[in-house]
Amino acid sequence: MTQPKRYLVTSALPYANGLKHVGHLAGAYIPADIYVRYLRAQKRDVVFVCGSDEHGTAIPIQATREGTTPQAIIDKYHEAMKQDFEDLSMSFDIYHRTSSPLHHETAQEFFTKLNDAGELEIKETEQYYDEEAGSFLADRYIKGTCPNCGSDRAFGDQCETCGRTLSPDELINPVSTLSGKTPVKKKTSHWYLPLGKHEQFLKDWILEQHKDDWRPSVYGQCKSWIEGGLQSRAVTRDLDWGIKVPLKEAEGKVLYVWFDAPIGYISATKQWALDQGKDWKPYWQDKETKLVHFIGKDNIVFHCIIFPVMLQLHGDILPDNVPANEFLNLEGDKMSTSRNWKLDMRDYINDFVKKDNGGPQAVDMLRYYLTQIAPETKDSEFTWKGFQDAVNSELVAVFGNFVNRSFVLMHKLCGGKVPRLQEDLLDDTDKAMIAEFSNTKAEVQSALEYYHFRDGLFQVIELARKGNQYLQKKEPWIVARQVAENPAAQASIDNTLHICLQLCANLAVLINPFLPNTARKMLYMMKVVEKMLDWENAGKPNLLSTGYSLRAPELLFRKVEDEEIAAQIEKLKSGLIKSAADNAAAAPTPQKAPMQKPEIQFDDFAKLEMKAATVISCEKVAKADKLLKLEVDLGTEKRTIVSGIALHYTPEEMVGKQVIVVTNLAPRKMKGIESQGMILTAEDSDGKLQLLRPENGVAPGSGVS
Ligand code: MF3
Ligand code: ZN
Repeated sequence: MTQPKRYLVTSALPYANGLKHVGHLAGAYIPADIYVRYLRAQKRDVVFVCGSDEHGTAIPIQATREGTTPQAIIDKYHEAMKQDFEDLSMSFDIYHRTSSPLHHETAQEFFTKLNDAGELEIKETEQYYDEEAGSFLADRYIKGTCPNCGSDRAFGDQCETCGRTLSPDELINPVSTLSGKTPVKKKTSHWYLPLGKHEQFLKDWILEQHKDDWRPSVYGQCKSWIEGGLQSRAVTRDLDWGIKVPLKEAEGKVLYVWFDAPIGYISATKQWALDQGKDWKPYWQDKETKLVHFIGKDNIVFHCIIFPVMLQLHGDILPDNVPANEFLNLEGDKMSTSRNWKLDMRDYINDFVKKDNGGPQAVDMLRYYLTQIAPETKDSEFTWKGFQDAVNSELVAVFGNFVNRSFVLMHKLCGGKVPRLQEDLLDDTDKAMIAEFSNTKAEVQSALEYYHFRDGLFQVIELARKGNQYLQKKEPWIVARQVAENPAAQASIDNTLHICLQLCANLAVLINPFLPNTARKMLYMMKVVEKMLDWENAGKPNLLSTGYSLRAPELLFRKVEDEEIAAQIEKLKSGLIKSAADNAAAAPTPQKAPMQKPEIQFDDFAKLEMKAATVISCEKVAKADKLLKLEVDLGTEKRTIVSGIALHYTPEEMVGKQVIVVTNLAPRKMKGIESQGMILTAEDSDGKLQLLRPENGVAPGSGVS
């Protein structure tokens, strides 16, 4: 394979509707950063772009949730995400945003070019419209009953209960979340990208040309899309948040977010070129550019099918590879923003990086673990125990330990300088160790060229492990005891430590794409300049000059303590409870819930007599699972009440409790017992009944209104 002239590397543009979690980081960001750092170390021409995705319904929905405007939402989260990426050593050449005028122009120009060339179709369809709100309804704005699982909390695009993808037409009893009213069908026109016309192109390009070099999961998804029949996709929407469709007849319509967002890669490149005084065009138009998209698996169809069709029609280059990752689970469960079961980048930054014992080292600890568990071929799992083990038993005990031992021994046995090497004295163990430098380089290199980041990192750690074994075998600290009577022993010690130090220098070069902060700390200890990290230096046994004095060792990594991970697990669990409460408050529910019963006047309500009462005794009702018989004290009288709460409360827990009783309800017989009142309860989301009670307790017989 001839080497590409230049590279354009992209990471998926995250939605600016909330903070991103470590699952995102592991999927689309860290692998891209490793790849780019590796290319840069090879002095290749590479531009790495990313930015915020600021359109789509996700943004106005979040604005409603937070009680603010879409503009305020994107401004807030764009800054926050940009900062988080910076804090985690992501090395984008530009972090752009799709709300920028340059992007709006670029996306409109793209649409116009395709439309003028007759590559888009206009179709009239019927779509749900909210007459009260006066607007068409995006799929997310329609709620109803799921045809699959029967949940009454399904949305027009997906049922969150069973996970099924839906279209608004499939919803039973659709309701607009804007007004709470039933929407009506109304005609509207949209512009479509006819994917079916490009089936042959996709078959040749993906199914033939990329049969062997795309990841099997990516290839498989594309294959089933193509073979399942390619439908035309609407590229416009009736929405007021987004990029205006640049046509007079498209008043009130915007480009679909998935049409404009990937064009964001192009506008980001343009902005970067403007800032740098460079030409952006070759990066998107010259066939000798290698374009690589890093994404999570939920974005595959957009990056492998839809965007490439757009690029090809627009006359741009196509991606060479789309190394999509699977999902990262967390402590045995799917990561989820709505359930707050996640580890936000921001939380890790606050709890580890911004601590006294944190800093750049803590960044590398996370980068290490996320790469080690990267979901490259199947879903994988983040656990705090796994994080602790990876740091303590690999970074600390293998990599850090080897570097530290080498430096300590060099200071103790070789006067703090790189000792000389006597080639004629090298034995087989020494030679085998030196040979590993270039072997490992070759392994890591081929892993990285093929996007096998886990494996590449594994090889680097293996090399450090071999270093430890080598030291263990050579035992220079034992040999040192013979120096007094046998001066030749010093030559053996010198050879061993010379090799160990050259190995440290090699480790710095090899670890640099993965753990850039660690590599820099090693440069400092070795008193060498950044240039040493050039990839061409990997494999060389003579990176440090003989006689050069090095600094005292510094610990590269610290241990993660049991208490730290226990605290994180605790935090995760309590977050889950908190979010359930937040969600209940924040969900975009209808402003007016439809009424279930006819309206009544105050006089009707005033006919009810309700009082607080205290339960004196309580027992189960024979042959009735659901019923409890209670004796209650109403201050001036005692009454017997039968209540259907036996599945929710035991007789023992009822005694002594205060309850609210409707006291003027005509007596009713249940299972032969006369019930002289009714106890009030509310049903929670699990269907459990909860007693309604005065917050602080009141005297029995107190009136309720
Ligand atoms: N915002 C999308 C997501 O988070 C990704 C957009 S990638 C781009 O799933 F290519 F469209 F930019
Ligand atoms: Zn469902």
